[in-house]
Amino acid sequence: MKYNKNFKTIQDIKHLQGVRVLLRLDLNVPIQNGKVVDPFRITKAIPTISYLTKRGAKVIILSHKTEEGGSLAPVAEYLNHNGCKAVFVDAYKNARSHINTMVDGGIILLENLRSNPGEEENSTSFAKELASLGDIYVNDAFGVSHRAHASVCAITKFIPSYAGLLFADEVQNLATAFDPQRPFVFVLGGAKFDTKLPLIEKFMKSADHVFVGGALANNFFKEMGYEIGASMVSPENFNLKRYFKDAKLMLPVDLVVKRGSENIVIDNKEVQPGDVILDAGPKALADLKKVIFNARYVLWNGPLGNYEHGYKQPTINLAEMISMSGAMSIVGGGDTLAAIAELGTADKFSFISTAGGAMLDFLANETLPGIDALVESES
Ligand code: 3PG
Repeated sequence: MKYNKNFKTIQDIKHLQGVRVLLRLDLNVPIQNGKVVDPFRITKAIPTISYLTKRGAKVIILSHKTEEGGSLAPVAEYLNHNGCKAVFVDAYKNARSHINTMVDGGIILLENLRSNPGEEENSTSFAKELASLGDIYVNDAFGVSHRAHASVCAITKFIPSYAGLLFADEVQNLATAFDPQRPFVFVLGGAKFDTKLPLIEKFMKSADHVFVGGALANNFFKEMGYEIGASMVSPENFNLKRYFKDAKLMLPVDLVVKRGSENIVIDNKEVQPGDVILDAGPKALADLKKVIFNARYVLWNGPLGNYEHGYKQPTINLAEMISMSGAMSIVGGGDTLAAIAELGTADKFSFISTAGGAMLDFLANETLPGIDALVESES
């Protein structure tokens, strides 16, 4: 097992009064018409911000937006409207003068890191420049710690580095999947087979049941020689034959498909050319129910259907089953969280990850570049 949590956290820091803390967060949240529409990641970042400010640290928040030219100004506005007074600094060249005038317990949010080319290049000189703005560095951005970027990796070489509370929580909770209680059910949905194959490979070895749903199942159907019509599928061949006879593997036995102008429910072998597979059917949900209600540990990422286009109900039903099963439940992924939000039962899950790609990479590899950087900065 590669899992290593030998990094220091902010709870190991004895003295924070007046200390300039460079706090890397993942505030890459959905924004529409200049407003934050899903504050989940912001809410989960607050405990670390408060921990630091209550102890008198000067907190300089670093974050990114995926979109080129994307701005964190709406995030600053959200923070200020929700009891977290933060000064927004829209240009890195102005950062130092703002930091020099900060009071103890103050907060600054700097603009999208990715407006600096050095960030994504993991550039040593940009990391040095960032490090020179603070006294210590804290990574509480688990959600972007699968990226070897300057504010995640290179910076740890130049300044004492620690994990934040959310980061440590993510590592600890997701790592339970490496030594789970049994029976252990792994449910994987969504699309992009190539990015999710490592998880199938890993958990086919360690889980008791692996249910593959969403567009991912279409790759299995295709390689099994079933008709998939005009359904979404990753184009490559992944040599999945080795799993066909493995009793652990579960695929949706029935499907909701679009045939002409109608949506019908059919068995997975009854798809015709021109049909489009959209969702899992009721027999598939009944199969899931059987194993989930018998499970002591459930790990779930990704929807069962084309969630974005409104095929939501089976995914919401799955969320409900997991929340009622009594099993330890670890879940994550954008549409997965949307289904849970729709159900309003977030408190019924053992752990909801803030991460997307980072969750998948951590589960597959048991570490991330951002974890390695913190561990190495210790040695
Ligand atoms: C995410 O949303 O998964 C993280 O913030 C990482 O964003 P990225 O895919 O743009 O690196």
